[in-house]
Amino acid sequence: MQMLWDSKLAVGVDKIDNQHKELFNRMNSLMDAMKEGKGKNEVMGTLKFLEEYANRHFSDEEELQRKNNYPKFEIQHKEHEEFKMALKDLRMKLEEQGVSAMLAINLQQSMCGWWKKHIKELDMDLGKYLMSV
Ligand SMILES: [Fe+2]
Repeated sequence: MQMLWDSKLAVGVDKIDNQHKELFNRMNSLMDAMKEGKGKNEVMGTLKFLEEYANRHFSDEEELQRKNNYPKFEIQHKEHEEFKMALKDLRMKLEEQGVSAMLAINLQQSMCGWWKKHIKELDMDLGKYLMSV
């Protein structure tokens, strides 16, 4: 099962929505590589590709929040850091245990859940705020 972006996840700010779509693509590449049982190096490559883009997205989004004095910046920042930690944790698990189907399934559930919740609960509110200032 792929992580699909649909219009229900649109926050209404093109830059953010486009970055979310690209993040979903990169998460799918990582999960596909794991599910297809690709070697550790290849999986690590897709993880690095995702990490780079996630870091860029979070810093772009936080810059937008700071520039516009978004009142919930701290809550956003805390969740972004949480996701970055989850990717670090995944890197460690892959180093220690290698690629496994179990890890792929757990990852898919937690990532899908995290993103849908983050977008619906926090980024939607941010989108509304940015359109009102
Ligand atoms: Fe966010």
